[in-house]
Amino acid sequence: MFKSLYAKIDAIVTGTHDRDTKLKNICNLLEEKVPHYNWVGFYFKNGDREELKLGPYVGAPTDHTIIPFGKGICGQVALSNQNFVVPDVKAQDNYIACSISVKSEIVIPIFVKGENVGQIDIDSETINPFTKEDEDFLEYICDRVAHFL
Ligand code: SME
Repeated sequence: MFKSLYAKIDAIVTGTHDRDTKLKNICNLLEEKVPHYNWVGFYFKNGDREELKLGPYVGAPTDHTIIPFGKGICGQVALSNQNFVVPDVKAQDNYIACSISVKSEIVIPIFVKGENVGQIDIDSETINPFTKEDEDFLEYICDRVAHFL
């Protein structure tokens, strides 16, 4: 499934649109083409604050447009600098629910010159859907995105 999407990501990244349009187009592509991706968005460090701010996304609107570092899955990734794969959100204590239909989540950090500047966050309505292929694909996206931020 992901194989054909790498070239489509490249086309978005190397295109002439502005930063936020590229990010939004990536969200649209993922939400449309990957059946187990139901909410796709980017969070970025909010200036000098120890918090994340929601950037472009596709899916249901969320109240969580600002997330303090350490809070929820996203806030934990801001501190850990590690991928966070959550097969079942019910099993997480430090989790911020955006919608009751969400069953699982994956968050992959974005690094610019070694600094964790943000992340891609994906919610799924399927339980335990993520594999190493998801992580490889999303790491690729984060790496490409880092070059135009
Ligand atoms: N569930 C996330 C919050 C962001 S929403 O999924 C859009 C978390 O626990 O950090």
